[in-house]
Amino acid sequence: MRVPSSTLLSICIILTILSTFTNSQEFRSYTGENNNKEKPMQGSIYTPFIRLAKPSKFNANGHPNITNLPSRAVSNFIFDQQQRIGSKEHLTDFFNMFGQFLIHNMALSKPETNLWPIVVPKCDQYFDPSCTGNKTMNYFRTRLTQVQCDDGITETDEDGKCYEQINSLGAYIDANVLYGNSEEICKNLRSLSGGEMKNVPGVPMDNDANLFPIDQLYSVGERRGNENPGLLVIHTLFLREHNRLARKFAKAHSDWDDEKIFQHSRSCIIEQVQKITYEEYLPVILGSVPHYTGYNPKVNAQVSNEFTSTAFRFGHSEVGPSLEYYSENGTRLQPLPIKFSYFNPHALNQGIEPIVRGFYLNEEENIDIYMISDLRNFLFGKPGQGGLDLASRNLQRNRDHGIPSYNSLRKQIGLRPVSTWADISTDKVIQERLKKTYKSIDDIDAYVGGLAEDHMEGSCVGQTFYFIIQEQFFRTRAGDRFWYELPEIKLLNRECESTTFLK
Ligand code: HEM
Repeated sequence: MRVPSSTLLSICIILTILSTFTNSQEFRSYTGENNNKEKPMQGSIYTPFIRLAKPSKFNANGHPNITNLPSRAVSNFIFDQQQRIGSKEHLTDFFNMFGQFLIHNMALSKPETNLWPIVVPKCDQYFDPSCTGNKTMNYFRTRLTQVQCDDGITETDEDGKCYEQINSLGAYIDANVLYGNSEEICKNLRSLSGGEMKNVPGVPMDNDANLFPIDQLYSVGERRGNENPGLLVIHTLFLREHNRLARKFAKAHSDWDDEKIFQHSRSCIIEQVQKITYEEYLPVILGSVPHYTGYNPKVNAQVSNEFTSTAFRFGHSEVGPSLEYYSENGTRLQPLPIKFSYFNPHALNQGIEPIVRGFYLNEEENIDIYMISDLRNFLFGKPGQGGLDLASRNLQRNRDHGIPSYNSLRKQIGLRPVSTWADISTDKVIQERLKKTYKSIDDIDAYVGGLAEDHMEGSCVGQTFYFIIQEQFFRTRAGDRFWYELPEIKLLNRECESTTFLK
């Protein structure tokens, strides 16, 4: 077949334009800066969370005005879990581990040195067995920054100024959990040849449990990466996928240098994380996710305080008592209790495969007010020897961040306040626990009320958390100038593969 020379010329021109465009293509920053051209710092690291509801007032000492029981007492009354309760929706561990990986991409409420100890009730079975009545658990308040008082939703402090908690991560879903939040960290995570990533010590990692020396931990893009081995497995899956893509690009483009291969592979991985979040993860929470309608620079993708300090912590109730391992033929192997798994890199010594099988095969805990003992009584160590309670930490964080009470929050986000205990949950045991803990429905902590709610039809959370999570993920997508469904990003990512967890 003869092709007219004018057609050939047009094809050449299009290819040249296309290649110029992609060569000069901008890749997103590591910090989230410059995503929004008008407000370059919006959604970037170390900027304040936004608010959906006016925070509670603090007292003259700058402490929250608390009339409810101390958070550990609420934890004992509400969250105590004596038996396993499987997921009503039959979700498996993959769901909770991806959820944790996702939040480590979006938010970090980094504590500072301002200590606000959690009071332990006298004779607490785990934290004050000898009934001294003077035990506390360490809790450090979140870093704050001053914000303008004029947005209608801030609360003025005694000093006439307004403050907001800082997000110590960039808010965009940009896989920074793998690549780090700065070029410098990212460099340390790269092999700097062939566009590949490496996985050796050298990057600062949290090691709260101090079970193993820090140089035995895995280096990943986010400080909390070793917090549990399941999370490390998700990190490893994406790291291997990055390197697989890098090898593919290196083979296909002998003229690409390390940097170009790296950035293209990174861009594909960001697409995968965004796609999995919206096509596979969120539909389980939200039933269905509306179609993408394009980038809107007026939308702020920053994480809301209510989302990170309250609603998305629903994940702590889905965690089961052990990390499960399965053999190739589906036989259950020796599990590892969660309390021995914190910051334990050796849990991966048999490779990630037995754990990935467990992700698919093991039903997770139901999303409800109950939290397993290993999280509630043995977080990062034995009680009294550094052990903590994640439920009371969540409640203390809610109070520290001035999250309004459950009913006040509902009202402020446009939901009908509840007037009876049964409006929250049809479960009689849950109603009784709430009644025993709070004097009035209006006192319920937002974290407790949200978890106590019956699940919405087609969702695994109740109405309040549903609303907050939906609102967040609408903004996360619409406010991202590098969203994978935008035509220019599709063009950039045209050699990526449509890999997800299902396909
Ligand atoms: C074994 C599993 C997990 C452990 C040990 C764990 C532990 C923790 C700890 C210690 C904190 C800080 C608490 C504080 O002082 O405020 C935290 C924060 C948080 N976790 Fe988890 N978590 C786990 C799983 C999950 C899951 C499955 C999800 C969600 C699906 C999740 C969501 C969150 C959120 C939203 C925060 C607040 C992030 C921030 O703003 O700093 N976690 N987690």
